[in-house]
Amino acid sequence: MTSVQQSIALAPQSSCDADLAAGPWVFDLSPGYGPGASEADVLPDPVVRPGQLPEAYQQMDEAELHRRIRAAKQTLGDRLVVLGHFYQRDEVVQHADFVGDSFQLANAALTRPDAEAIVFCGVHFMAETADILSRPDQHVVLPNLAAGCSMADMADEDSVETAWEELLDVLGETEPDGRASVVPVTYMNSSAALKAFCGRNGGIVCTSSNAATVLEWAFQRGRRVLFFPDQHLGRNTAKAMGIGLDAMPMWDPRRPLGGNTEEALRSASVILWHGFCSVHRRFSVAQIEQARAQHASVKVVVHPECPMPVVDAADAAGSTDFIRKYVAASQPGDVIAIGTEVNLVNRLAAEHPDRTIFCLDPVICPCSTMYRIHPGYLAWVLDGLVEGEVRNEIVVDAAVAADARVALERMLAALPKS
Ligand code: 13P
Ligand code: SF4
Repeated sequence: MTSVQQSIALAPQSSCDADLAAGPWVFDLSPGYGPGASEADVLPDPVVRPGQLPEAYQQMDEAELHRRIRAAKQTLGDRLVVLGHFYQRDEVVQHADFVGDSFQLANAALTRPDAEAIVFCGVHFMAETADILSRPDQHVVLPNLAAGCSMADMADEDSVETAWEELLDVLGETEPDGRASVVPVTYMNSSAALKAFCGRNGGIVCTSSNAATVLEWAFQRGRRVLFFPDQHLGRNTAKAMGIGLDAMPMWDPRRPLGGNTEEALRSASVILWHGFCSVHRRFSVAQIEQARAQHASVKVVVHPECPMPVVDAADAAGSTDFIRKYVAASQPGDVIAIGTEVNLVNRLAAEHPDRTIFCLDPVICPCSTMYRIHPGYLAWVLDGLVEGEVRNEIVVDAAVAADARVALERMLAALPKS
């Protein structure tokens, strides 16, 4: 049996990120994530920096890691719940008690108030959300603290506060009809500090599955929406609601008024933050055309974090759970090209061997931060829980959590449309 180090070295080299051929602990030390990645993190003392997986776990072979994970789960029983996002690799997903999209996992965190520990196999903002929604005495653990989200980092609290002040200076606080002049909406893929900002300012959180319901909620309360950090989810959702592109100016946080005129902001319906997902930005209309040229009957389904021309050229777009259901509803013999993270695509292909299912991107692009959750880290944090030590805990400051909870509870009440 190969050690984890060896099996990672043998991983497909066709990845768009050469780093992924190395063990996550090799590149975890790069700056950017870990405790303090979110302005709302409470830093442990001493601070545990990423990249500290003990050598023994780095060298352990996979069979031993899986044996340890299963044994720890059995010992901990109902005291533990393991959540896994659809983008996690199969070696991790096999140990999850719940697998889902970010909306479903936020709900799942609420379903087990009896569990002492919630181990979140996903990324930093998802674990923060679980900490905010769970009981104060529950521990939320992110197996590898270096698992962040580059999109979430594209909007920070200071820049959003500055944008907000500039917008209120131009637009005032309320409209003649009594609605707010602007309602802040943050995508789930954002720091707890930004969720708290929305809670304090009459706003709400959305996920890719309930973004349309959330925008309807916001327009009942306000004339405009400031949508951050993902411009593509904002644009695709607003366009599907019939909002014209000329009513969706982009806000560039490096420029005064986000690079807009006062007039453009007054006539805006949705002001889009200049953020994006580097995984979903890779999908292109040319890839869809190629898929259609190679398979006349192909159906194309993509995630709404893809750019608008890609969503427009696809047959359907929706959250990771939407994509899963789309494939489940297809027939044997169908051909489906998918524009989302490759771990989910490969799993769907394996679950439906009687269909042709492939990733639109021929270069294959995993989310390099989701990928940092490795069975080695999962075994290490679970062994810690068995020994009574909580490793890699995510703790959101209580005042931030209180405001963020307001915006998250609004989100949980805004159900996806299908
Ligand atoms: P979902 O809301 O579809 O789970 O997506 C989360 C995510 O990070 C997509 O990149
Ligand atoms: Fe963030 Fe994109 Fe990875 Fe989702 S796929 S976690 S948006 S970097």
